[in-house]
Amino acid sequence: MAGAVIVSNGGGGRDYPGNLTLYVLFTCFVAATGGLIFGYDLGISGGVTSMDPFLMKFFPSVYRQEKADESANQYCKFDSQLLTAFTSSLYLAALIASFFASSVTRVFGRKWSMLGGGVTFLAGAAVNGAARNVLMLILGRILLGVGVGFANQSVPLYLSEMAPARLRGMLNIGFQLMITIGILCANLINYGTAKIKGGWGWRISLALAAIPGAIIAVGSLFLPDTPNSLIERGHADRAKRMLRRIRGTDDILDEFNDLIAASEESKLVKHPWANIIKRKYRPQLTMAVLIPAFQQLTGINVITFYAPVLFKTIGFGGDASLMSSVITGLVNAFATLVSIATVDKVGRRKLFLQGGAQMLICQVIVGTLIAKKFGLSGEAEEGLSRGYAAVVVLFICLYVAGFAWSWGPLGWLVPSEIFPLEIRSAGQSINVSVNMLFTFGVAQAFLAMLCHLKYFLFFFFAAWVVLMTAFIALFLPETKNVPIEEMLLVWRAHWFWGHFLAHDDDVHVAAANSNLELGGANNAKAKQGGTAVAS
Ligand code: BGC
Repeated sequence: MAGAVIVSNGGGGRDYPGNLTLYVLFTCFVAATGGLIFGYDLGISGGVTSMDPFLMKFFPSVYRQEKADESANQYCKFDSQLLTAFTSSLYLAALIASFFASSVTRVFGRKWSMLGGGVTFLAGAAVNGAARNVLMLILGRILLGVGVGFANQSVPLYLSEMAPARLRGMLNIGFQLMITIGILCANLINYGTAKIKGGWGWRISLALAAIPGAIIAVGSLFLPDTPNSLIERGHADRAKRMLRRIRGTDDILDEFNDLIAASEESKLVKHPWANIIKRKYRPQLTMAVLIPAFQQLTGINVITFYAPVLFKTIGFGGDASLMSSVITGLVNAFATLVSIATVDKVGRRKLFLQGGAQMLICQVIVGTLIAKKFGLSGEAEEGLSRGYAAVVVLFICLYVAGFAWSWGPLGWLVPSEIFPLEIRSAGQSINVSVNMLFTFGVAQAFLAMLCHLKYFLFFFFAAWVVLMTAFIALFLPETKNVPIEEMLLVWRAHWFWGHFLAHDDDVHVAAANSNLELGGANNAKAKQGGTAVAS
């Protein structure tokens, strides 16, 4: 029967027939390259804004201030709001753009948002690479931000909809992997261009953003749209053909019928934005707001944006600082592979909890090490010994690894897989904009916070990690292997969120209930495991 699925809190769930086809692997790979533009941008601006010729040309007052600063207080050396405003303006543009992307994604399909993202990003790279004044620089940043807003809104949805349920985590995390590769490439490029004698290295760094922009722009032209989106837009026949192709089997009727049922339901909802605030969507809405906010409150972008500054702060030389950020970049990318390999087996919750614990321990250790060395004054009595510095870098790497297999990828995966079709696009926009808002906030506040909170900064983020880990433990149900259009059943089975869902307001639940009566064996089995069996 259509809609048949066993949902359990420990994951599991019905498997639709079909395999991982080369076609789906390829389309997901191409779509995931949308992560490159976000990653490139995350990685490039920190390095560029630390290049003297760039500062002299666009931010001479910041340059003079930095050179004139002779204070020995390490915590306050780099505090410039103007400069951080340049870095973070992009995230505000992305925040706003993701709301427009929501309509494009819903009405025209996922691929057009990806194309729009790629093309705008490309334009932004051109304007930035050719920048003659701050105005051009800011205009370029806004275009890049619009590109990121569109891509981050559509790519995770696309991946989650294309993937077979049991491999959704793995395929979706391709996006995060591309983000980390983008960051790493940007770090390496900055490392090279900073050495260019003529002082125009920053132009290359900014202009090379065109490469990831072109990859996703051209790639998206060849992408098919997802069956879910085709059905949503009234192309049921094309969706059926697409489903056969991506699943590599003719036996797709169950999945197809589920998509049709989801689409029928979604047609009842004319205004996703007005609907998303309804009580029955409270669990998903809560996740769409809190997961991205928490992702940023792990403090990861303190490392992404400011690793060179941070390493300089604790006494590394210029080259050593840049090298250390390349090391954390490598750790970030490789540790993401761990997540890809495990997310559909051990599930989302275990990764969240393990990663959270690891980040917490590392933050406390790093905070303590820095406190011991610099105390509250920010002045070290003598330089950092090599061994001491290596231990700090080691724990920063372990922290990054913890993030890279938990909050990094899951911060994009989970929100993209929990929304019912009718509000999926709007929900993802909320996810993107909250993420951007907090990225902006952390980027903007970090240098001032380092100056005022000193080593407490690490404990500040550690406290957030405690809170978010407790939140996951209590409120996030396991979503691994559950078909995306059946996710409602997971919420229904949850001890807390179940209260928010009325028992008769959707076709899945009707199907679920009738199947409960039929599926005695499954039912008993699932109940033993403290789980729910549905439809
Ligand atoms: C986050 C970014 C972060 C990156 C680090 C992403 O998931 O959204 O803010 O810089 O991971 O790898």
